[in-house]
Amino acid sequence: MYKSISSEDIFVFRSIVDDRCFIDEQALFDYSHDETEDISILPSVVLKPINPEEVSAILRYCNEHTICVTPSGARTGLSGGAIPVHGGVALSLEKFNRILEIDEKNHQVTTEPGVITQVLQDAVKEKGLFYPPDPASKGSCFIGGNVSENSGGPKAVKYGVTNEYVLNLEVVLPSGEIIWTGANVLKNATGYNLTQLITGSEGTLAVITKIVLKLIPHPTHNLLMLAPFFSAEKACEAVGAIFRAGITPSGLEFMERDALIWTQVFLGDTSIHVGENHAAHLLIEVDGFDPEILMNDCTKIMEVLEQFETDEVLFAESQAQKDALWKLRRSVGEAVKSNSIYKEEDTVVPRFALPELLQHIKSIGKNYGFKSVCYGHAGDGNLHVNIIKGDLTDAQWNDELPLAIRELFSEVVRMGGTLSGEHGIGLVQKPYMDIAFSETSLNLMRSIKKVFDPKGILNPGKIF
Ligand code: LAC
Ligand code: ZN
Repeated sequence: MYKSISSEDIFVFRSIVDDRCFIDEQALFDYSHDETEDISILPSVVLKPINPEEVSAILRYCNEHTICVTPSGARTGLSGGAIPVHGGVALSLEKFNRILEIDEKNHQVTTEPGVITQVLQDAVKEKGLFYPPDPASKGSCFIGGNVSENSGGPKAVKYGVTNEYVLNLEVVLPSGEIIWTGANVLKNATGYNLTQLITGSEGTLAVITKIVLKLIPHPTHNLLMLAPFFSAEKACEAVGAIFRAGITPSGLEFMERDALIWTQVFLGDTSIHVGENHAAHLLIEVDGFDPEILMNDCTKIMEVLEQFETDEVLFAESQAQKDALWKLRRSVGEAVKSNSIYKEEDTVVPRFALPELLQHIKSIGKNYGFKSVCYGHAGDGNLHVNIIKGDLTDAQWNDELPLAIRELFSEVVRMGGTLSGEHGIGLVQKPYMDIAFSETSLNLMRSIKKVFDPKGILNPGKIF
């Protein structure tokens, strides 16, 4: 269906990107995978353009010759969005690594997509400004990948996910045309919202080359506490109760017992005592500008927690302790990955359905014989479910597990939730899209894809 790449094509690519055209084994391997499980599919060539004009020339040529192109950021994704499933061109945006302008007067930043998210956050923080979305991989992921996947992270519970900050995008269409999707304004009621359509489209509609983001004043203070629970379900129940008490934490994270213990082992840091009967922990952060208000919030949170069978709550006393607690939480994914073959689902339900979601996960696991390690952004009702291969046979893993996942997603959708809160659909959740959408809705999406990309050259094999 797609043309395979010939030496003539390579000659043309070299004429566009010069020596930033790679066909060596190492480069092809590097761009064959992201952080999704153990999947690896080689591209035929890796191209590293440096400006929108080069991206345009590549796409124009590939479109003309029906060569498929998979846009690629820092390859930290968890749904296989950057895996070149049909080979072809891996289009790396890593050379787009400049922050172009921090507009302090308007609280905006214009950036290229290959800037590491934390680098961007640090740069705007120096001006007293805040870009909140903070995926676990913020130290290595690219802002362009965050926009493409509509990433979240712990701060989303108070500040929202990536799309709430994207004001305007410069993109290259598969035809090679370069457009801006909107305007650099906070309000925009002008036509269809192309900016939001591209955001979260997982590199299937256009290649992002510039991003204008909204910023907010950076909070000056925060408090962090770790609360152990004797029951994981009670921990999930406490989450809803905290909001009902009128508090919106800036982080409200859930870690099941094994998530915490495995991560302590992974990091070689056992400074947090995990009691025999601690079934789960909540990591709770509040932030703002007035320390007194934050102390009051913490007192209220403590009052709520007391109703849910907690053990002694740990308050972080120093920045170093806060950093250590967040490091622990941010490393859970990696710790699970290093521990076993696993499959990760990114379930999300309305916040109050969280205890019910956990029950279903465990009961489906019991029926199908798998163990799961759950953690995630409880304040958002967003639970990462890591299904552990453990002693399951290959036949169980390959043939029965998809049925279990189907059952789980069906429950999630029945509860008013959906398949992915922040990791995207990509390659690995694609088989389950019919659970979340009717054929009519899926056809609408397919039609939109066709308008942008009639030949289907851009990131084929993803979403549907
Ligand atoms: C996290 C990533 C896996 O929350 O989304 O750690
Ligand atoms: Zn997450």
